[in-house]
Amino acid sequence: MFRWRQIITRSAKRHTYLVTVVNNNLNKNISTTSIAMSDKFRLPARYGAGEKSVWVEYIQLAADYKPAVNLGQGFPDYHAPKHVTNALADIANGDNPLLMQYTRGFGHPRLVQNLSKVYSPLIGRELDPFNEILVTAGAYEALYSAILGHVDIGDEVIVIEPFFDCYDFMIKCAGGIPKFIPLKPKTNKENMTSADWVLDEKELASLFTKRTKMLILNTPHNPLGKVFTREELEVIADLCKKHDILCLSDEVYEWMVYEPNKHIRIATLPGMWERTITVGSAGKTFSVTGWKIGWAYCPPNLMRNLQVVHQNCVYTCPTPTQEAVARSLEVELSRINSPECYFYSLTRELLPKRDYLVKTLKENGFNPTIPDGGYFVVADWTKLGDKIDLSSESDKYKDYRFTKKFAKEAGVLAIPPSAFYSEEHKNLGENFARFCFIKKDENLALTEKLLKEWNSKKK
Ligand SMILES: Cc1ncc(COP(=O)(O)O)c(C=O)c1O
Repeated sequence: MFRWRQIITRSAKRHTYLVTVVNNNLNKNISTTSIAMSDKFRLPARYGAGEKSVWVEYIQLAADYKPAVNLGQGFPDYHAPKHVTNALADIANGDNPLLMQYTRGFGHPRLVQNLSKVYSPLIGRELDPFNEILVTAGAYEALYSAILGHVDIGDEVIVIEPFFDCYDFMIKCAGGIPKFIPLKPKTNKENMTSADWVLDEKELASLFTKRTKMLILNTPHNPLGKVFTREELEVIADLCKKHDILCLSDEVYEWMVYEPNKHIRIATLPGMWERTITVGSAGKTFSVTGWKIGWAYCPPNLMRNLQVVHQNCVYTCPTPTQEAVARSLEVELSRINSPECYFYSLTRELLPKRDYLVKTLKENGFNPTIPDGGYFVVADWTKLGDKIDLSSESDKYKDYRFTKKFAKEAGVLAIPPSAFYSEEHKNLGENFARFCFIKKDENLALTEKLLKEWNSKKK
């Protein structure tokens, strides 16, 4: 037990607080000091109210309620490929002491060279490893450097909803103004796919103004799994060119695309290379999200702006994990035309998991949207609405109430998609829950069992 305890109370005087130190053993005040803690120390207004992100809140929820299966956060609950984890072990136990020290700030040379080898053929141009690629602390920091490196005070940024929740915060951090446009389902029939979620072209065109600086695209999309088609990308690209704006393309799920869909990099569309920053993630590529290595690639004039942000906040990413990702890419490059290459085998591994989860959800009263990419399923839960009493949950949005109560009753944790919408459109996410399927088969089977049990109790 702590011997001392501090109690902070507001004093009658404005901006002044009383700090009282109490001896726990004697239960006696030792001292009281009056200190000025003015509004100066509040969270800066540009960060909003400083609410917990959905990740922070739901990791805590998982820790508190220990649901039998956690299909919330997007990461595998099984091992990454052996050659990937072995690479890190070899580096840790190897004979090169410099691999434990700082490396080149903008990206470990072996890693940027291999990234260039992977992407150059895919984008149809020779990527300069030292001037057109930046290695970052996960895709998160690539997004941060791209946004903070380009968005100025008062600049508008177009964001497609639902969106990966940090985009909004980062734009506001830079002093920019997010302008949101939701993907909307064309129907709510059974067997909907993510391709049924579309943008209204006129609505999109109407968002562009003189102040628009950037559009953020995410394909394959989290949480819907939408893989934007060439025609859809052309509409976006034409608007970007017409209004001379940047496209920040978050492609972290680039290797998880289910046949017959194809991942198209918007940077490869005519006139788009010069205005596109593309973001990738080693965490998603090699199923090692905890390594937090990501990257961005773009032309050198744009890259310089990302580098300015990166060199002053992160400076350099961990050397051992960069070296391990570099070696892992070498293995994949050596078998790039073989079906064994992890870039393709991962999708083969995920497809039956996707189909199993979709079937399980359907059989148990949800209406899932079948994803064309990524490893999430968004499912409408409203048909279960009369089986579950949400009145004990106090959250503002229905999907938060549903996912919390469902985790407590059924033991299956999902994420509330309203977290991926702006304040004015949160209602569009409220009827859904997001489930992650990059999980062990036994955990997906357990999900089926738990959903069946829950349903039979509710009959
Ligand atoms: C769309 C999207 N972008 C970026 C990220 C962040 O990736 P990383 O873990 O490499 O920072 C994620 C992670 O879930 C994501 O879903």
